[in-house]
Amino acid sequence: MPRKIILDCDPGHDDAIAILLAHGNPDIELLAVTTVHGNQTLEKVTRNALAIATVAGITGVPFAAGATRPLVRIAEVAESIHGDSGLDGPVLPDPDIEADPRHAVDLIIDTIMAHEPGEITLVPTGALTNIALAVRKEPRIVERVREVVLMGGGYHGGNWSAAAEFNIVIDPEAAHIVFNEPWKLTMVGLDLTHQALATPDVVERIAAIGTAPAQFVVELLDFFGTTYLAAQGFEHPPVHDPCAVALVIDPTVMEVVRVPLDIELTGSLTLGMTVADFRSPAPDSCTTHAATKLDREKFWSLVVDALERIG
Ligand code: BDR
Ligand code: CA
Repeated sequence: MPRKIILDCDPGHDDAIAILLAHGNPDIELLAVTTVHGNQTLEKVTRNALAIATVAGITGVPFAAGATRPLVRIAEVAESIHGDSGLDGPVLPDPDIEADPRHAVDLIIDTIMAHEPGEITLVPTGALTNIALAVRKEPRIVERVREVVLMGGGYHGGNWSAAAEFNIVIDPEAAHIVFNEPWKLTMVGLDLTHQALATPDVVERIAAIGTAPAQFVVELLDFFGTTYLAAQGFEHPPVHDPCAVALVIDPTVMEVVRVPLDIELTGSLTLGMTVADFRSPAPDSCTTHAATKLDREKFWSLVVDALERIG
């Protein structure tokens, strides 16, 4: 049985690849794509999500826009990484599908409540605003979802500040809500995603597929590589968001440990830090997990296989 997921994202170069991986892998059933402010404004990331659907030929999946800003703070975008459109690099097609009229939070709640308990996995790859709002509006979703597998955070350090990662620090209050609910949650953070570098051999494998969606990804990675070098000093760009989807597809693609995690909300230098308590053993009540080590070859093969299937 394919794993049913809702992908909550802010495309975003790596979010785009996460959507393509979810769509192209036969072990995933993509029930909905929801968007949230983040890499760019909600309007831009929603348009990008619809354009990605057009590139990949995704039909019959609702795409719905969610929160325009964080719960408490002023919205912040990652233009230095993702450009003015949020998806700079390739020419974006005019979307041939329209956004679902529902708010993302309602689509998330309705979809979860319409399925059996334990059926749906939430895969957030942006700020956690929509997920936090959904939890507050319909708390029963917490016991109904199978698990939350998110890209965000990191136990070694940050990328948007010394201590904090972008998706968490732009809406730390939302992250605090999501990390403190008693559902199974796995943080696929920077410790893991900085192992998913799009090195030239990877880009060549994708280019060799020779299809329009594969070429689209090559152009995304080209732009992403330029900004990651200029803004963060990476020789090759870390492709964060598809790592979370990959873990849902194949639990052997990375190592995961059970560890208490919480979000720093008051530190002047550490706001948005995902604090991991590695003193062992983790208490029985602990439902949070952190990804530690990636099987790089398995991960990129999943991405390449998905792009080959999209054709
Ligand atoms: C995360 O921030 C965003 O810019 C990326 O899409 C990814 O989700 C990495 O810190
Ligand atoms: Ca993202």
